[in-house]
Amino acid sequence: MTTHKQLTIGLFGFGVVGEGLYQVLQQTPSLNATIKKVCIKNPEKKRNAPASLFTTDKDEILNDPSINVVVEVINESEPAFEIASRALKSGKDVVSASKKMLAEHMQELLDLQKQTGQSLLYEASACASIPVIRNLEEYYDNDLLHSIKGIVNGSTNYILTKMFEDKLDFKEALLQAQQLGFAEADPTLDVDGWDAVNKWVLLLLHAYGILSHPKRLLFNGIQNIQGADAVVGREKNLEIRLVGQAKKLQNGKVAAFVLPQFVKHDNPLSFVKNEYNGAVVESSFADKQFFYGKGAGSFPTASAVLSDISALTYQYKYEYKKLYYHKPNELSNDYYLKVYVSFDDWSFIPRDKFEWIEEWHAENDRKYLVGVLHVQELMQNDWWKKNNTSLILTPEPLIEDVEIRNLKKKSLELAGIGTN
Ligand code: HSE
Repeated sequence: MTTHKQLTIGLFGFGVVGEGLYQVLQQTPSLNATIKKVCIKNPEKKRNAPASLFTTDKDEILNDPSINVVVEVINESEPAFEIASRALKSGKDVVSASKKMLAEHMQELLDLQKQTGQSLLYEASACASIPVIRNLEEYYDNDLLHSIKGIVNGSTNYILTKMFEDKLDFKEALLQAQQLGFAEADPTLDVDGWDAVNKWVLLLLHAYGILSHPKRLLFNGIQNIQGADAVVGREKNLEIRLVGQAKKLQNGKVAAFVLPQFVKHDNPLSFVKNEYNGAVVESSFADKQFFYGKGAGSFPTASAVLSDISALTYQYKYEYKKLYYHKPNELSNDYYLKVYVSFDDWSFIPRDKFEWIEEWHAENDRKYLVGVLHVQELMQNDWWKKNNTSLILTPEPLIEDVEIRNLKKKSLELAGIGTN
């Protein structure tokens, strides 16, 4: 029988999440966990906690043998990595919410977990209050998980909702997301899609055992989306969301990317508004399941940190089952995406790169087309992010290589050019 471990916590960071955790812990005395010290950067700032709790010297926590858990919720990713590694090496378990740090340093962190035998938990780092990492890790068997699609950034979802439902302009909506504590200290991380792709790296690891890197995944944010795109969406009864996707292809590999997408009203993701996040998981027998909850903010994020702390009281560790016990999956770079592209001038669009173009509308100042591109075209070139061009995936964007080959074969046959 495992015994409940008494946890003595050293906390790094007392911002939106850190202070939230402090308050939440005070309201959950049944948990065997107390905060002994909090390390902060700026000692001048007024805090809602006794001054004796605070230090600016990280060694007061890292060198204190009575502290057995380090909770790290700071903004800067390199210092966060140093804290997490030193803590693991000193025999402390670590709970982190630093998605950028985790996504960029996962290989080293996996090695450190193996070497030290310590636990590193990070439920708060993706979808905040929704327990998506532990579910992917524990519940879904590798071979049965067909796909996961999710809204994983609260700020951009908040901005899209405010812009297109409440008619706020982009700047005002972003300001609100910052004031409410949803946005990153550098909000371009949210707006340009970095935060979402960092989270997607973590979800890919627990969903499919794929260890990728933010720089290796295809992604974009919402920076280029315009009012005209929402107007087209409304005409077609579609909403715009920033969606991360991972789908097992017929060849066994996984297609994964984070891009803005038009979603239909019967897609549960269209229901996700403001700072909420959501994930739709499809598996062989359960069919579709939908996870929904707050994806940013003080208490929702603190609740996930609290759950990790609670898990540590019974010595829980991620086993990384899909990575270590199954044959890990591979990412595919050979599939096609059906995209909507809006632009100011035809000269910005390399029309010959499209497999085919299904719709084009050149009548207004803002023009658009719907067409099919190979994923490599998007990975290797950036015309679709420049010159005020906006690219949004269509509701069913993914076309597999084999489908394209079959279509090409059929059209040759129709043209009377037999293939055998
Ligand atoms: N900036 C992040 C977001 C915070 O908006 O989702 C939660 O990770």
